[in-house]
Amino acid sequence: MKTLHEVPADVIGLFGQKSDAVRQERGAATLRRLHVQNLADCEKHIPTVVQWLWNEWGAEDGYRYLSDTEYRTRHCLGRGKFPMTFVATLDAVPVATVSLWTCDLQARQDLSPWLAALYVVPEMRSYGIGAAMVNHATGAAKMLGANSPYALHLITDRVGYYEALGWEFVEEAPLRDRYTRIYRRVLRDFPYRSLAD
Ligand SMILES: CC(C)(COP(=O)(O)OP(=O)(O)OC[C@H]1O[C@@H](n2cnc3c(N)ncnc32)[C@H](O)[C@@H]1OP(=O)(O)O)[C@@H](O)C(=O)NCCC(=O)NCCS
Repeated sequence: MKTLHEVPADVIGLFGQKSDAVRQERGAATLRRLHVQNLADCEKHIPTVVQWLWNEWGAEDGYRYLSDTEYRTRHCLGRGKFPMTFVATLDAVPVATVSLWTCDLQARQDLSPWLAALYVVPEMRSYGIGAAMVNHATGAAKMLGANSPYALHLITDRVGYYEALGWEFVEEAPLRDRYTRIYRRVLRDFPYRSLAD
């Protein structure tokens, strides 16, 4: 299994202190090499994706063990149907993931599907990979339902990130012992252009 320690040196080398212009150019170069696949078609990456999700959200999700996150992930491997998971690689090394879930908020069973579990390895952040993954998953959701689903939703505590990607803040909603923010992306007008595959 590849780990993030095996990210090639030339890729790591892109991430030193750079001017914005250099960073943008290298970000674009990185995105051209990004290969996004359905995790169902490359199951060898499941352990890596599970480890990322467990580290990031295992406790928050209320899971006790890594195997609990693996259980969820292995039941999120739809092809052409929800739920589904995508993994992105650079030179065959996994660097990011995102999923489309049927529900990510117990209080909103009336909404489906949801964009969830967006993750980019720390070494590769701020080069547009997160945005590319959001757009890839949004495009996949649109392709899966030309007329319905009407919109994709997500929950986040982040302010600003999804707005910049064209998502609309809907409202706050209860999540366990706190409140979270619901965002919506209407699919009808989403200008989908596949990054990969
Ligand atoms: C959030 C995440 C996916 C972004 O990935 P990324 O590849 O760095 O995203 P992009 O390159 O498309 O965008 C980066 C920009 O987003 C913005 N951004 C990052 N975190 C943000 C936040 N919490 N709020 C608002 N904007 C944010 C920054 O302005 C950053 O720009 P900068 O490089 O000039 O600082 C990544 O940081 C990550 O995996 N975090 C841990 C898991 C997580 O929080 N997932 C999202 C759950 S809603």
